[in-house]
Amino acid sequence: MVMGERENPQSLLITGGAGFIGTNFVRYLLRHTDVQVVVVDALAYAGQHCNVEQWQGDQRCSFVRGHIENAELVEYVCRTYAVDTIVNLAAQTHVDRSILDVHPFVEAIVRGTVVLLEIARRLRLSRFVQMSTDEVYGECLVGECSEGSPIVPSSPYAASKAAADSFVQSYGRTYGLSTLIVRSCNVYGPSQFPEKLVPMSILCALHDELIPLYGDGTQRRQWLFVEDLCRALWLLCRVGQPGQVYHVSSGIEQENREMVEHILQLLRKPRTLLSSVPDRPGHDRRYALRWDKIRDLGWEPQISLEEGLKQTVEWYQANRSWWEPLWTGPYARYRQQWYGQLSQSGAASWGMV
Ligand code: DAU
Repeated sequence: MVMGERENPQSLLITGGAGFIGTNFVRYLLRHTDVQVVVVDALAYAGQHCNVEQWQGDQRCSFVRGHIENAELVEYVCRTYAVDTIVNLAAQTHVDRSILDVHPFVEAIVRGTVVLLEIARRLRLSRFVQMSTDEVYGECLVGECSEGSPIVPSSPYAASKAAADSFVQSYGRTYGLSTLIVRSCNVYGPSQFPEKLVPMSILCALHDELIPLYGDGTQRRQWLFVEDLCRALWLLCRVGQPGQVYHVSSGIEQENREMVEHILQLLRKPRTLLSSVPDRPGHDRRYALRWDKIRDLGWEPQISLEEGLKQTVEWYQANRSWWEPLWTGPYARYRQQWYGQLSQSGAASWGMV
């Protein structure tokens, strides 16, 4: 075997496998590969038990409920299922929530990642793949960030991700653990928790409710359909080079306002549903990633924005029983708190006096 060439993963631990990206990635692996998968997920607010149920009959997939910070549990799972690769998708992911309370982010993202790294090191696992984000680079007003751009996170969420990335890199350098960091742009698609811009806009529109856009809505993001991300993740699990960072993006850049307008068009709803609300503190106006490094490995996105949004809207229309309990339960409570605080705005409402 030549240097850099490794055996394909056989048994993967997918942490956060009942969340949005996790659910889609597990489904992708079961459809397109013959690997064994074990999911560890705490089923906190964004991880759904119904996501887990869909693969319950599949002999190749097991589910263990628990937190990744629980070292004993994770080690037991790794030994029991002879895990060779960890793909760490477990995280608190919502920027706005990190502004309300940073502690769950530090716990799940920073401490959780360190616990996993320690286990990967001690058990000498073959690979450790860390899901990260374009947000670690902070605002990128012109051009695009490359994998070596300075890390200047703006939000507590992004700072937690940046810290976790640093630990991942340090375990590669210090212990020779075969690590990989995947930084992606905004991802959308089926089974995303309603707090994110795309599902929130779809569900508000279906209820003929106003869609809150922060500030003037001209902030720009790149948008990737979740299945394209899953293909990228699997490719990187196999051929990504140890110690490297890889960007995954579509290069499809949209203003938030434009994204919501596409959704309204698909649902034949009026633009009057758009509603400007005060901006969130520390909101980065733009992110943009170069992704030629993963393109050189043979990956490129296959789903256009039109197709991806159409599939997403149709999924939410067809899966009311999935989102209805969330919309009226955990999301409704959070929505009241967050948008209430946002509308009061001013430094004092964020605890800065
Ligand atoms: O960039 C990758 C990141 O994308 C991931 O690392 C994060 O985990 C993920 O949450 C997402 O972060 P964003 O803050 O960009 O996602 P969100 O869907 O919440 O917001 C997208 C844009 O829409 C952002 O500029 C904020 C804006 N927005 C969002 C909400 C929820 C609004 O204008 N109004 C809203 O009510």
